[in-house]
Amino acid sequence: MSLGRCSKVVTRELHCKRQESRIHTTSLSPVGVTIKVPKQTDFVDAGVRLICQGRTHCDPDQDSNMTHWEQDIIPEYLHHTYWWAYLHPQAVRFWERQWLVNLILWGNFNALREEALRHVQDHFLNGESGTKNILQIACVYGNLSEHLVSKILLNRNNKQQSTSDSKYNYHIVDIAPIQLKNTFEKLAYRIERLNPKTLTVNKNDYNRSSVDILLDQQNSSQLSFETGSMDCVLLFFLLHEQPLDVRVKTLNEAIRVMKDELIIVDYHQPVHRLNPWKYFMKQVLTRLEPFAMDLWNHDISQWIDPHYRSQVHIAEKKLYFDGLYQKVVIRKIEQKDTSDHSTA
Ligand SMILES: C[S@@+](CC[C@H](N)C(=O)[O-])C[C@H]1O[C@@H](n2cnc3c(N)ncnc32)[C@H](O)[C@@H]1O
Repeated sequence: MSLGRCSKVVTRELHCKRQESRIHTTSLSPVGVTIKVPKQTDFVDAGVRLICQGRTHCDPDQDSNMTHWEQDIIPEYLHHTYWWAYLHPQAVRFWERQWLVNLILWGNFNALREEALRHVQDHFLNGESGTKNILQIACVYGNLSEHLVSKILLNRNNKQQSTSDSKYNYHIVDIAPIQLKNTFEKLAYRIERLNPKTLTVNKNDYNRSSVDILLDQQNSSQLSFETGSMDCVLLFFLLHEQPLDVRVKTLNEAIRVMKDELIIVDYHQPVHRLNPWKYFMKQVLTRLEPFAMDLWNHDISQWIDPHYRSQVHIAEKKLYFDGLYQKVVIRKIEQKDTSDHSTA
């Protein structure tokens, strides 16, 4: 090993150590500078490709067949407030349970998932063939992504779909490498089980759509997608976890990149004064999720940038579980629609 290379390695080790200690001083989040996953995994029989994207490295020591996601761009509020939920390896192992995420939402996970996916599905059914882009901003514990993929691929979920040559790009972005890796592993496992060769699904259940699932490390407050490039965008329980400045940027970035529709599912203040959940959840959220009260006290539309106000409208706002949860659909004004709407 030449002296130059040796000093480069030593420098990188020092850099890693510095980063490890920096992360350790602020939280109990995982150590290490990058998390690696394969760049691409193909499930040919299921018509699915799992593609992991990341910043390109010119470092010859990095394995070019693997995507490297970096720890050091995780924002401070995540380290500080949510290390126990999203960053610590034990946290991922603990929380990634369907029954548990359902319990946290008081048994409403499936209903809220279906409400969100119903809108996404409308975009599958609008009759036009060609490529559709769907963006999910932030990974979600539980089976949301898996259901979205199966709704695209399986006729039994999607009876009206007859378009034979539809191609779907399902983008999932998150800032935390460990969450992206978890989503990659979860989807790889599930898609393997959706594969007609290996399992329970009859070949006739499949339509002829194909899906590229693209996982990428991005900050929701500064997305790299082009303006108007996503047919629909999904924000599932993300906004209540972000401090105001990040939340405002996330919402407006979601509006910027959407072509048709943005679907938001999140907390909301219960409607009835005597609702027992109201007082219990207020205590829980105030202690564990310090930014969540903003979603109780403010209407999401007030965070829409004045620049976008004339371009979008609130096409739908629906409350669930006596108002503890809300679904808000924000739509581009140019689009013709028959549902009731009020200007944002
Ligand atoms: C979607 S939210 C919560 C969803 C829901 N509570 C669940 O059961 O998973 C959690 C995700 O948001 C991600 N996240 C938080 N801030 C982010 C940001 N600024 N950019 C991208 N992802 C972010 C976290 O890394 C985490 O994976």
